[in-house]
Amino acid sequence: MAELVIVEDERAAGELVAGSIVSLIRRKPDAVLGLATGSTPLATYRALAGRIAEGSIDVRGVRGFALDEYVGLPAGHPESYRSVITREVVEPLGLTPELVRVPNGDPEQIQHAGADYEAAIVAAGGIDIQILGIGRTGHIGFNEPGSSLASLTRVKTLTAPTRADNARFFDSPDDVPMHCITQGIGTILRARHLVLLAFGEAKAEAIAAAVEGPVTASQPGSAVQLHPHTTVIVDEAAAARL
Ligand code: GLP
Repeated sequence: MAELVIVEDERAAGELVAGSIVSLIRRKPDAVLGLATGSTPLATYRALAGRIAEGSIDVRGVRGFALDEYVGLPAGHPESYRSVITREVVEPLGLTPELVRVPNGDPEQIQHAGADYEAAIVAAGGIDIQILGIGRTGHIGFNEPGSSLASLTRVKTLTAPTRADNARFFDSPDDVPMHCITQGIGTILRARHLVLLAFGEAKAEAIAAAVEGPVTASQPGSAVQLHPHTTVIVDEAAAARL
C-alpha cells in the first residue's frame, strides 16, 4: 500500500522529503540515496542543500546511485546525467564525488555496465531511499511502458515522447540520444523506501495509473504498488485524476 501525501506545492514536497533524508543521514551517516534527474526532484535537492548548509549534518559518508544515464554522450557533456547529478546534487549538497555513482553510458563498456552497476548497489548494502519522478508515458527511471517489472539495470531504447520531452535540454531534438542505461523496475523495487514525486497536470494521468491502476508493465509507475514502503507526494494538479 502506498501512502499518498497531497502538498501545496513543490517547495512543500521538497521540505518534506529533505526532512526524511536528513533523519536518515542522522541515523545512518553512510546512507545510500537513490537519485533521480529531471525537474521533479530539484525542490528536494534545494531543500536538502539548505538543511545541510545549516551545518549540523555530516554528509561526507553519504553514498548515491543515479537511476539512469544516456548512452553515447561524450564524457563531460553538460546534459549527461553524470554532469546533471554533479551540478544539481553532488556540488550543492557537498557530497563526496567518489561515493556517488551514475550508470556508465560509454558504448565501449556498455556490455558489462548493467551488471557492474547492480553489483555496486548490492556491495553498498542496497539503496535506503529512492527518489522517483514519473514521465508522461508513465516511465520511472527510463523504464518505458513494456519494461519487465523484474528488470535490472540494462540498456533501453527511448520512446519518441520521452525524446521529445527531453529535447528541451539539447540544441536540436536530433541530439537527444536514442538509448539509455537505466536501473530496472526490479532494481528500483529493491530500495528500502520509494518516494514518488509528481507535480502539475501533465502528470495527473501517469499518477492515477501508478497509484490506482492495475499493476502492469504497460504503466511502469504502477510497480510502486508492489513495494511495502512507498510514499507518493503530489500537488493538487497531479492528484486531479485520483
Ligand atoms: C526523465 C528521467 C526520469 C524522470 C522523468 C520526468 O526522462 N529519466 O527519471 O523522472 O524524465 O522528468 P521531469 O521530472 O523533468 O518531469
